[in-house]
Amino acid sequence: MQKLLKTIALLLVITTVVFAAGCAGQSKENATEGAVEEVTEESVSAENGSDAVFRSSDGEMPTYVVGTEAQFPPFEIVDSKGKVIGFDVDLMNAIAEDQGFKVEYLDQDFAGLIPALQTGNVDIIASGMTITEEREEEVDFSEPYINAGLALAVLTGNEDIQSVDDLKGKTVSVQTGSTGFLKAEELQKAGIIAEIKDFPHVNEAIEELKIGGADVMINDLPVTDAFIAAQPGVIKIVGEPLNSEDYGFAVRTGNTELLTKINAGLENVKASGKYDELLADLPNYMEE
Ligand code: ARG
Repeated sequence: MQKLLKTIALLLVITTVVFAAGCAGQSKENATEGAVEEVTEESVSAENGSDAVFRSSDGEMPTYVVGTEAQFPPFEIVDSKGKVIGFDVDLMNAIAEDQGFKVEYLDQDFAGLIPALQTGNVDIIASGMTITEEREEEVDFSEPYINAGLALAVLTGNEDIQSVDDLKGKTVSVQTGSTGFLKAEELQKAGIIAEIKDFPHVNEAIEELKIGGADVMINDLPVTDAFIAAQPGVIKIVGEPLNSEDYGFAVRTGNTELLTKINAGLENVKASGKYDELLADLPNYMEE
C-alpha cells in the first residue's frame, strides 16, 4: 500500500514537473495549481485518500499540494490503507475547509521538503517542522501550531545515559535534516558527541539503537513517545527535554496570500474548539 502511495506521489511530481515545463513564463504558483487541477476530485479523494473537503464543484477552489514525511506519528503517518493521517493532516484539513481550499498530501523525505517547496513541487509543508531562524531564511512559516521539544532516547536496559552530561564519546542516531540532527551537530562541535548517524526516517534511527549501532537517539519527544506506545519496552526517554520548539506550516517565501489563509484558518479552528478536539485526540494516532 505504501508502494502505491509512493507511486501516486511520484506520478503527481511528474505531472507537476511536466505541466510546469509546459507553463514556461507563468509563475510557479500558477504552474503548480494548474497541474493539480488536472486531478479530478474523485481521484484525489480515492487515490490519495486525504480527508480534504470539497465544498464546491465549480472548480474555483484552489488545490494546494502539502508535502510531509509521513513516518512521524502522531503528527503524520500512513495508515494500513496507505492514507496519510495524523494531527498535522487533520489540522491542515480543518484549515483548508475553513478557508475554502483543497489539499492533497505528498509523502517524501524530510530533508527534501524545503527544496520541494522552493521548486514548486509542493505549496505547503505540514510535517512537524520546527520554526527556526535558519529555515525562516528559506521559507515563510505560519503562526506556531504546537509546541514540542527534543529528547534523548536509549534502549530500556541502558542505565549509562541519563542526560546530555553522559553523552561524552557517544554515537547518536537522528533523522536527516531534523532539528535533532542540528542538536547532535552542536553537541559534536562542542566535543561531546563522538559520532552522528543520520537516517531518512525516525524508525531507522530507532533500529540503529536496537542493533547497537548508536547509543542514543535525539528526536522530537512526542514522536519518540508515540513509537514507544506502539512498541513498548524497547526504548525509553531519559532526562529532561533538551529544548522547546514550535512547529509551523511553511509556504514559499513571499507567498503571503496562502500564508494569510493558513493563519486565518488556524485562528478560526482554534476559536471554534476544533483545535482542542484534535489536541485531545493526539495520543490516538498510533496506527502504523
Ligand atoms: N521537528 C523536527 C524538525 O523540524 C523534526 C520534524 C520531522 N518531521 C517529520 N515529519 N519527519 O526538524
